[in-house]
Amino acid sequence: MSLLRVDNISKSFGGLKAIQNVSISIRPGEIVGLIGPNGAGKTTFFNCITGIYKPDAGTVMFGDYEQEITGLVSYMISWRGMARTFQNIRLFANMSVLENVIVGAHKHIRSSLVDLLFPSKRSYADEMKFVRRAHELLEFFGIDRYANDLASSIPYGSQRRLELARALACEPKLLLLDEPAAGMNPQEKQDLLEHISEIRRQGISILIVEHDMKVIMPLSDKVVVLDHGEKIAEGRPEEIQKNPLVIEAYLGKQ
Ligand SMILES: Nc1ncnc2c1ncn2[C@@H]1O[C@H](COP(=O)(O)OP(=O)(O)OP(=O)(O)O)[C@@H](O)[C@H]1O
Ligand SMILES: [Mg+2]
Repeated sequence: MSLLRVDNISKSFGGLKAIQNVSISIRPGEIVGLIGPNGAGKTTFFNCITGIYKPDAGTVMFGDYEQEITGLVSYMISWRGMARTFQNIRLFANMSVLENVIVGAHKHIRSSLVDLLFPSKRSYADEMKFVRRAHELLEFFGIDRYANDLASSIPYGSQRRLELARALACEPKLLLLDEPAAGMNPQEKQDLLEHISEIRRQGISILIVEHDMKVIMPLSDKVVVLDHGEKIAEGRPEEIQKNPLVIEAYLGKQ
């Protein structure tokens, strides 16, 4: 049984085939690494799964009952339990750190317009619950001391962690991370490895794009390699490291 099953998706931009017939599956609790040289199509693949782009062909099935989500809009997909972070950090710069996390939990906040106009005990209790949960997530990532600071004012590595906290606030079943360690120093990368392992221990599956093999290899149960939009290899990390096609396409260029 898969949590995510992508079958033969393709996406072109004009004449450029960014993704061609790519299939992958992720089981519950699995960490899958997605690697490949610059421009291989990794981010496009994420965008096709998360509803930012509609794939030209192929299907995406997701959830406990493998329901088709191909071409659904982003918020519908996120509502079903898929959350992501972005290669270029996308935070609400003018909101506080805490507010950024609370926004991530929006699907769980039941408050309606009526609640806003006539606040009830229930809507207040709901909101308090999410404020507490948001603080817990900030504490988990060691950034709760910034809770009331503007998101744009905190250090870069902490902004990366805040993106993760926000993604987790919607209580996803699957978390997609697009280069979460980009720009981090070795200590920050080590912390990130530990956080991702802990997130998996909580039962969340993860698909991670990352250039740093020291992050990908120890973390992943399975690694999928893209090159020029096509899947050229898939296997356990130790197999992938030895695969001549991969060495030629990717590792060899490092
Ligand atoms: N919106 C778009 N319009 C046109 N071309 C695009 C668009 N998005 C991506 N591309 C092209 O598709 C190809 C795949 O890009 P993509 O960003 O998916 O690669 P990537 O593997 O994430 O690369 P990187 O490691 O540099 O992040 C590239 O040639 C890119 O220029
Ligand atoms: Mg990318």
